[in-house]
Amino acid sequence: MTAAPRPGPVSSPIMLDGSAGGAVCVVGAGYVGLVTAVCLADNGRDVRLVEVEPTRLGMLQQGRSPIHEPGLDRLLAGVVDQGRLRVTGDMAAALRGAGVVLIAVGTPPTEDGGADLAQVRTALDAAIRHAEPGTVLAIKSTIPPGTTASLNRTLVRERLPLVMCPEFLREGSALSDFNRPARVVIGGDDAEAVERVAALFGHLDAPIIRTDPTSAEMIKYGTNSFLALKISFINEISHLCELTGADVDAVADGMGLDPRVGRAFLGAGLGFGGSCFPKDVRALDHTASYHGQTMWMLKAAIEVNAQQRRRFVAKVRDSLGGNLQDCRIAVLGLSFKPGTDDMRQAPAVDIIRHLEDLGASVSATDPVAIPKAAPLLGATRLVEDAYECVRDADAVVLVTEWPEFAALDWVRVAASVRRRVVVDGRNVLDGHALAAMGFAYRSVGRRAILPD
Ligand code: UGA
Repeated sequence: MTAAPRPGPVSSPIMLDGSAGGAVCVVGAGYVGLVTAVCLADNGRDVRLVEVEPTRLGMLQQGRSPIHEPGLDRLLAGVVDQGRLRVTGDMAAALRGAGVVLIAVGTPPTEDGGADLAQVRTALDAAIRHAEPGTVLAIKSTIPPGTTASLNRTLVRERLPLVMCPEFLREGSALSDFNRPARVVIGGDDAEAVERVAALFGHLDAPIIRTDPTSAEMIKYGTNSFLALKISFINEISHLCELTGADVDAVADGMGLDPRVGRAFLGAGLGFGGSCFPKDVRALDHTASYHGQTMWMLKAAIEVNAQQRRRFVAKVRDSLGGNLQDCRIAVLGLSFKPGTDDMRQAPAVDIIRHLEDLGASVSATDPVAIPKAAPLLGATRLVEDAYECVRDADAVVLVTEWPEFAALDWVRVAASVRRRVVVDGRNVLDGHALAAMGFAYRSVGRRAILPD
């Protein structure tokens, strides 16, 4: 898409410490909005957080977090208590005197894999209606390349500059990611507006990339898609390791020590889930096809990711003699990764449903995700206690690598299961120790370790 025409300059003076207009207004209290608002308030900003969903709003106004994120409850309660973060459903009130509005609403996938921009448009419309002259609007939501430029064409008429400021927080480590980012990316055509947004993050020890909005959007999608490709690549290698007798963890260590490759995101296992990678890889593929391009590597990453879950179920079936009818399977871990209760695109859901389709009865446990998993897994017995979960199991299957599961008393587990079979989907358990306790241990991309 062509670059948007430059909007008029912001009309109020901008202090480079970002203090012009004083407050920061964050729209949307999902992961990104909530963490951003809390961290900015903790850094001394006057922050207003706008949330329209009544239950969420009520909890937040009491200083309680609706999501599980390590450290967030304490920080949120503190900034709400000190009056540095005000949570409201009233956009007009939140915008009064705000210098910057950060839009952090969801962009869920559409049926054909695109990004649904309805919430972004609604938030922008409301912001335009209530913003004072000179307010800078910045989008933190993940939006496909070209979106800010096209939205800007509307905003030019309103003389409100629009900036794209993508987010790189990971669930489970969002607070430290906010305070120690690898980089801050700000895309905008209005230099003063870009500087005002940059000033919000100026205290962080991180390079700031100033670029055009479409490149900022592409950096976000490029990063997530590349990391997803890395995961799918090592998962394909893991299968070849199983066929050839190599050990995928040794391979990843050896590859990762090459600084051109890097060890991060070469963790073989059950592939990527969550609210970001699966959605963003598909959305980038969707954007490419809109422009007449086929992104073969993205299509392959998606297929390998799905295949990894199917292969794992086949491995569980094979480890029980090829038939799961009437078998009891204990699943350790439900959330898409440790440190969160997020069940979006969690491998556990596909895996458990598939096991149940093959005739197994499944018990599952998770330190925090059971309430969010329950509506998705109607046939599954969900139990808080891991020892209760494994009782009388024919196989114990690790799906999410919560440290609690490696720390279980496996001698106690061995004594309570019906058959000593462990299938480790994340390569985190000590296979030799388990084999010494009589377990047959299988993992991903490594040889099985059988008891003597
Ligand atoms: C991801 C990115 O890492 C963040 O930078 C980004 O801001 C965020 O998406 C987003 O777009 O909002 P997140 O989804 O929280 O963060 O989690 P990751 O830690 O990146 O893990 C994603 C998935 O990949 C998980 O299912 C994880 O189990 C899987 N994974 C990760 C692997 O299978 N192997 C690995 O080596 C690493």
